[in-house]
Amino acid sequence: MLDKHQHKHAVRDFDGVIEIRSNPVPRYYAWLFYGLVIWGVLFMAYYLLSGWSSEGEFAEKMSAHQERGAAQVPASAPLVDAQELRAEAAKLYGRHCAACHGEAGGGGIGPALNAQEYQYGRERAKVIESIAQGRPGGMPAYANQFSATQIEALADYLLSL
Ligand code: HEC
Repeated sequence: MLDKHQHKHAVRDFDGVIEIRSNPVPRYYAWLFYGLVIWGVLFMAYYLLSGWSSEGEFAEKMSAHQERGAAQVPASAPLVDAQELRAEAAKLYGRHCAACHGEAGGGGIGPALNAQEYQYGRERAKVIESIAQGRPGGMPAYANQFSATQIEALADYLLSL
């Protein structure tokens, strides 16, 4: 058993463990140490000098992600199915308009709406105006009762009769 008084290089005696400074570090340990130092320098050099940045990497991944998202949902996709709108317009017409304009626009108290020409114009915008704001000869205004989408759908429905 060594003790610090017997060995001239023994420098510390801690809980009976005697450290002898003259013994070299094992070779594999030294290689591991220097290897890690070199690896560390190369690692730092790569991230500091190659122009890499975490913001850049994020932006790259984000734009790739957004491109994929944009490809999946076409921007021009209609929100509501045209057929559904037409069906709703037909229902509204039957409930609110048919009493004056007749089933399928045949006319009655109000003028026929399946005609080729309208008194106030048969352009889509004019028809929308007739429905939304009414007309002086007895046509009520519907802007407060129906949404813009419903009025547009009604106009499209009339123009298809
Ligand atoms: C109370 C009866 C009445 C109801 C209900 C009514 N209308 Fe009319 N509508 C009229 C009359 C009358 C006219 C003609 C007004 C004029 O000549 O100034 C007219 C005119 C129109 C015109 C213009 C036609 C043209 O020749 O330019 C359109 C479009 C129209 N109505 C659509 C509708 C729609 C759609 C509805 C249901 C939401 C509706 N109307 C409900 C009586 C009615």
